[in-house]
Amino acid sequence: MTAPAPRYDMKGKTCFMSGATSGINEQIARRFAEAGAKVFVVSRSIEKVERTVAMLKEAGAEDAAGQSVDARSYPDVEAAVEACAEKFGPIDMVLAGQAGNFPAGAAQMSANAFKSVVDIDLLGTFNVFRAAVHKARRPGASFIAITAPQAKRPWLFQSHVCAAKAGVNMLVQCLAMEWGIEGVRVNAISPGPIDGTEGMDRLAPNEEMRERYRKALALKAFGNRDDIADAALWLTSEGADYVTGTILEVEGGTTLGDASDAMKI
Ligand code: NAP
Ligand code: COA
Repeated sequence: MTAPAPRYDMKGKTCFMSGATSGINEQIARRFAEAGAKVFVVSRSIEKVERTVAMLKEAGAEDAAGQSVDARSYPDVEAAVEACAEKFGPIDMVLAGQAGNFPAGAAQMSANAFKSVVDIDLLGTFNVFRAAVHKARRPGASFIAITAPQAKRPWLFQSHVCAAKAGVNMLVQCLAMEWGIEGVRVNAISPGPIDGTEGMDRLAPNEEMRERYRKALALKAFGNRDDIADAALWLTSEGADYVTGTILEVEGGTTLGDASDAMKI
């Protein structure tokens, strides 16, 4: 007999989620909505926010709303967090998921290109967490940043992303130390290559690159968006109530090293 799938009940819980209007984070928001949560999403494009809010209501959210926000602007993030808490009450779950990425050599990219990615990924995560902690349910809130394998492994043409995401990992661990006293948990999820996403399309835009990437993975397969949503649901659940400061790798073995030459047992 196979074990029943884990079920999560998020009725009455409030989630504030940045960068959750496409890709991996949108699927996390969808799964939280299916579990009955109240979900507030923010990203730059109001069209994407409105489309996502409609989808979340359809998926079963107790309620859903959102706002156009650039995570690089602290005042905009703070105003959105306040709107969320006003509408839905104390915040139980915070996701900082926004990111920017493009492959570019450090000698070729402009200082502003480097700064743009660091500001979106690292400063944006600080802004979201800093604003939300003042409206978070204490004790009990779960904060999750979305990081990447680039935080741990140097990567060609990814110096901006490697530096930004390494900063995200350290930020998460520092905040876990500072905010644990209030019963606030702070963790990160590090996705491996997730098929059918913008991030994956930007890093492996053709079949040859995809195949090389896939072969190098220990598990010889790309992940899917539910792999990451499952991790986020667990980290937010009571089952993870002693977990803080963790970088949860859902990577198919990306940072273990190049497994291209692995042989069948
Ligand atoms: P995606 O579809 O491009 O999603 C990015 C999201 O962030 C969108 O909702 C976007 O909406 C928002 N965003 C971008 N800049 C923003 C800003 N300045 N302020 C607020 N929101 C902003 O990306 P994805 O590929 O699913 O990746 C999602 C996360 O997973 C990222 O943190 C990424 O680093 C991480 N990750 C992805 C992979 C992968 O295989 N895809 C692997 C490892 C890690 P707007 O355009 O409306 O702003
Ligand atoms: N190669 C080199 N530099 C690039 C670049 C590329 N492919 N794309 C943008 N830049 C540079 C721009 O030229 C600009 O620098 P400059 O002012 O010196 O010319 C700087 O980056 C900022 O670009 P801009 O388009 O003004 O920034 P933005 O804030 O509108 O967009 C990005 C941010 C560049 C990160 C954009 O790719 C984005 O919005 N990404 C979100 C989606 C995403 O990346 N998803 C994958 C997540 S893993």
